[in-house]
Amino acid sequence: MRLCVMVFLGACVVPLASAAQNTVEVTGRSADAALDQDRLTAGFQALESACFSCHSPDASAGNRVAPPMAAIKKHYIQPGTSYEAFRDRLMTFVQDPSSENARMPGAIDRFGLMPKMPFDQVMVEEIAYYIYHSALEAPGWFEQHFQAEQQRRRLGQAALVTDADYLRRGREVAMSAKSTLGSNLKQAISAGGPVAAIDFCHDNAIPLTEGAAAEQGVAVRRVSDRPRNPANAATAAELAYMATARSALAAGEEPAPAVRRVKHEVVAYYPIVTNGLCLQCHGRPGVELQAETQAALQARYPDDQAVGYGVDELRGIFVVSMPAQ
Ligand code: HEC
Ligand code: HEC
Repeated sequence: MRLCVMVFLGACVVPLASAAQNTVEVTGRSADAALDQDRLTAGFQALESACFSCHSPDASAGNRVAPPMAAIKKHYIQPGTSYEAFRDRLMTFVQDPSSENARMPGAIDRFGLMPKMPFDQVMVEEIAYYIYHSALEAPGWFEQHFQAEQQRRRLGQAALVTDADYLRRGREVAMSAKSTLGSNLKQAISAGGPVAAIDFCHDNAIPLTEGAAAEQGVAVRRVSDRPRNPANAATAAELAYMATARSALAAGEEPAPAVRRVKHEVVAYYPIVTNGLCLQCHGRPGVELQAETQAALQARYPDDQAVGYGVDELRGIFVVSMPAQ
């Protein structure tokens, strides 16, 4: 056990110049006594599941949507910045992303302001703890921590057995994606109207959806038989589920979610049904869909098929893929 702790810390606190600066406050005591191992682990997990969909650690990622966390760390921690000061700065920004709270105006110009997401305070604090005490800038750090985490999760996860177990687990992921997308969409519309919200969706809808998969190995996507973004086109199996769900809706019934076992995976489907808000961007051209909005959609999505809907229609589905146990 002790050996494991030392190995893990060795990976975290590699002696880069800045990391050495940051751990000054813990010198004099032995490193493993000073740093809280459980908080580091929780912080890594949270960072990976809540932040990396946008703040990818993979510096070579071509379509980056936000600066990598190591770059943020450099801007937030100067020599002498204490952990508490760093934590407070990070939490202030994450709880209320605004240009007043930001320290990286260049990032806002390049990527647009970070959307506001309902993150748990304790979780953000653990993330701050991990970022401060770990060498995010060291080559290979992510791979090492990721492997260690996969191992821990395989050992520690409650077993999913029946289809109902998977449906329940998948529903949590789908609902979290839905509420994050919904609250950001409303905020973007009230801040800048539907045209500005289209830009927001274009840049963030997929990362926000993927980010809702709170656990590694669980993936969530939002797809449709009439996609706006061709990347969201449904596969044959997804189309089959959509057809069933659509007939249920047409018969005035609530469409039930479904679960399917595919080799080493269990895939669950959850319907996405339109309401009045959706029609601003998915309604009938010239009726609910204003000309200006339609033009903005055409510019972004020349192959858009996602217009002409009314309320209570099946717009798409959430697809949650979970490893079979
Ligand atoms: C949906 C995408 C997305 C997710 C998820 C996300 N961010 Fe961001 N974040 C951004 C973008 C875009 C920027 C750059 C623009 C800006 O600074 O606001 C950013 C910038 C930041 C900044 C620098 C802000 C500044 O300008 O000083 C911090 C700190 C930050 N994010 C923390 C986090 C943390 C912590 C998480 C996870 C809990 C997270 N972000 C999740 C998109 C995201
Ligand atoms: C401000 C305009 C706007 C509003 C309002 C809006 N959407 Fe969308 N929607 C978009 C854009 C833009 C995309 C493409 C996002 C992307 O590029 O991934 C999209 C994509 C989707 C997708 C993914 C499949 C596809 O067609 O690419 C679903 C499902 C969806 N929207 C459902 C809804 C529902 C349900 C509502 C109402 C609760 C809604 N949308 C409201 C603009 C909007």
